[in-house]
Amino acid sequence: MIIAVDGPTASGKGTIAKALAAHFGLPHLDTGLLYRAVGRQVFLDGGDPDDAGDALAACAFPAGLFADPHLRDEATGGLASRVSIHPVVRTALFDRQRIFATQPGGAVLDGRDIGTVIAPEADVKFFITASVEARAERRFREMRDRGSDSTLEEIAENLRRRDERDSQRAVAPLVPAADALVIDTSALGREEAISAAIKAVEISR
Ligand code: C5P
Repeated sequence: MIIAVDGPTASGKGTIAKALAAHFGLPHLDTGLLYRAVGRQVFLDGGDPDDAGDALAACAFPAGLFADPHLRDEATGGLASRVSIHPVVRTALFDRQRIFATQPGGAVLDGRDIGTVIAPEADVKFFITASVEARAERRFREMRDRGSDSTLEEIAENLRRRDERDSQRAVAPLVPAADALVIDTSALGREEAISAAIKAVEISR
């Protein structure tokens, strides 16, 4: 069983994907981490994230980069969204995601284009969304707990910019697959969102 979980930043897609993987005993891949690793590597190389050649060179990042404490920073998220525009980068990361998705027994992948590009044959596709306000509030609390002093306004502005870039790019834009189940988590608690997703998978099995 392949489960695709797509949606914008801080929509709750990662939490839901992780919970689905644990519930159904499936391996889970957070594909945003791949793009974050490329963005981080461009920065470490002193390259330009808007240059396709620099971004492609950074796709050869070492596996040890996944342990980099800056991978989940807002700044790295911004770099990830810039390198992910380049078709050569998306192609370079395709096989890794495809191999993970098609492993025997199935998998859960979360990202932006899992149900549309990486695994269009997925058995269940979710598009997890929430208002910018709800997402900014969540990200703000998360960042504050990690000791960051970003303001709510800065975070909301970053989210808007990232949403716009992710939704308007020419290749693999952030759009729900035609057959995706949409869950709006704006007014849902964590447990409510998770149990709605589990129920939806059980029904469609
Ligand atoms: O999900 P996360 O915020 O970690 O993703 C960081 C960035 O990576 C996104 O803003 C998006 O531009 C890019 N991304 C993508 N395709 C994916 C996953 C992430 O383009 N499947």
